[in-house]
Amino acid sequence: MSKKSQWFKEAVVYQIYPKSFMDANGDGMGDLRGVIGKLDYLKALGIDVIWLNPCYKNSGVDGGYDISDYRAIAPELGTMEDFDELLRQAHARGIRIVMDLVVNHTSTEHPWFIESRAGKDSPKRDFYIWRPPFEGKEPNRERSVFSGPAWQYDEATGEYYLHMFAVEQADLNWENEAVRREVYDMMHWWFKKGIDGFRMDVIDMIGKPPAMLRADGGPHGPSSHGPREHEFLREMNREVLSHYDILTVGESGSVTVEQALDYANLDGSELNMMFQFEHVEHDAGEDTKWSAGPMNLVKLKKIFERWQTGLHGRAWNSLYWDNHDQPRAVSHFGCDEERCRVRSAKMIAACLHMMEGTPYIYQGEELGMTNYPLRDISESKDVEAINAWNELVVEQKRFTPEYMMACIRYKGRDNARTPMQWTAGKNAGFSEAEPWMPVNPNYTFINAESQVNDPDSVFSFYKKLIALRKTHPVIVNGDFTLLMPEDKQVFAYLRRHAGRTLQVACNFSGEHAALDAQAQTSGSMLIANYDEPGDAAVLRPWEVRVTLV
Ligand code: GLC
Ligand code: CA
Repeated sequence: MSKKSQWFKEAVVYQIYPKSFMDANGDGMGDLRGVIGKLDYLKALGIDVIWLNPCYKNSGVDGGYDISDYRAIAPELGTMEDFDELLRQAHARGIRIVMDLVVNHTSTEHPWFIESRAGKDSPKRDFYIWRPPFEGKEPNRERSVFSGPAWQYDEATGEYYLHMFAVEQADLNWENEAVRREVYDMMHWWFKKGIDGFRMDVIDMIGKPPAMLRADGGPHGPSSHGPREHEFLREMNREVLSHYDILTVGESGSVTVEQALDYANLDGSELNMMFQFEHVEHDAGEDTKWSAGPMNLVKLKKIFERWQTGLHGRAWNSLYWDNHDQPRAVSHFGCDEERCRVRSAKMIAACLHMMEGTPYIYQGEELGMTNYPLRDISESKDVEAINAWNELVVEQKRFTPEYMMACIRYKGRDNARTPMQWTAGKNAGFSEAEPWMPVNPNYTFINAESQVNDPDSVFSFYKKLIALRKTHPVIVNGDFTLLMPEDKQVFAYLRRHAGRTLQVACNFSGEHAALDAQAQTSGSMLIANYDEPGDAAVLRPWEVRVTLV
């Protein structure tokens, strides 16, 4: 393995969902030229890396996660020249670019799948997962993450193919060495262009548990972390990743701390870090993600404590509150009413950014953008929400339309995908034309223009958090001790490194909250969200204080 720096430990990443970031050519959809035009904004914020959601040619079913050509840019987002220009311009500003790697599945419009589907003896047949029917039905009872069976019948050959997501997203067969070769070649191709890493989509699913592949009518079971998972990732690391100085982060909806010690081991044998889901799903319903309960701070703190202490010195954490699949951070973990939005957006930001790991900021989070008040299901653009509606409301009648709408407004992915709010002008300054997704009506007062030069804005607060990480090694390297674990309002912790102690005290409620002696902050104030120091033993509503001793 080549000797590699560990710059990913000091970096702050900004995630861009290109369709909704900035429209440069006036067709109502964000594009790569739009991103180029906003690089100075990102430079001003101080981020080091951009993670670009998929911008490859795709079939328009799942926001770019249904790729039909891994080596072409989606025409609606621009051209390969635009991409090369983006890379050049970003690098000129010292900003790195991480791409999305979606190799658990391809679009059914990908030439591999078209060939695979053509016949049982097609040379590409084995690129995907085909099984005969079991007693005239699906091979087994595996379920798609996007509702319904994970198996789709194909008339032409009388067999089913596996799709863990939409019907148009067929799972690749990683057991087939030729598939792995193709993927590694493609990765090299992008690295040779000069990209700086990959965020790996549902990477835990490439190694499939054997039970889910049997045509025996068996039950729905675990669909990730199969026996060959780490073998595949180590091979990918040897063949590709270890040759470059890059950042890698793998997504897994079910990874545990124990498993992350393999995936994200600091020995560099697999990936740099994982996106785990425990904290964002700590409030998920019993059997669906939709019927989410209220946030539970005690549970949330224990999850962070396990990840922070469990990986310290052995593996590496990613830190995020939201992304393109999650509701808006301030709506989920803070308070998105105007009387508390700015204060709570700053508090949750500091709470996360002062932990150990690489922070990810999702576009608009740095402005305190909120969930979108979706009118009804017809306004949703998200295959996940639409499929779930059809299953839970229309077919099974398990949820009433009103209840399901409330769930989608609270947890749905549309919340994250409304256009970025740049100005108080037409279409929030996102586009000259009618945007592909409606703009959140609160753009008139939540927008970048009004925040970049305002020292009290959420934007300026994020800027300061990023700068602090670059100034105080304890933020990057310190260990983690949770204080007041059973308290229902306060999230307080210490970070220690080289004789320094960082003290973080956050109030996750709109009421005053008492701090016990250990959690009272002292020393010099690094950042806070109230101007006056206040009472050392009491946090005001949504207050955060970070001090260094
Ligand atoms: C990941 C992506 C999500 C996508 C899914 C299927 O979870 O983040 O947006 O729908 O994988 O590719
Ligand atoms: Ca456009």
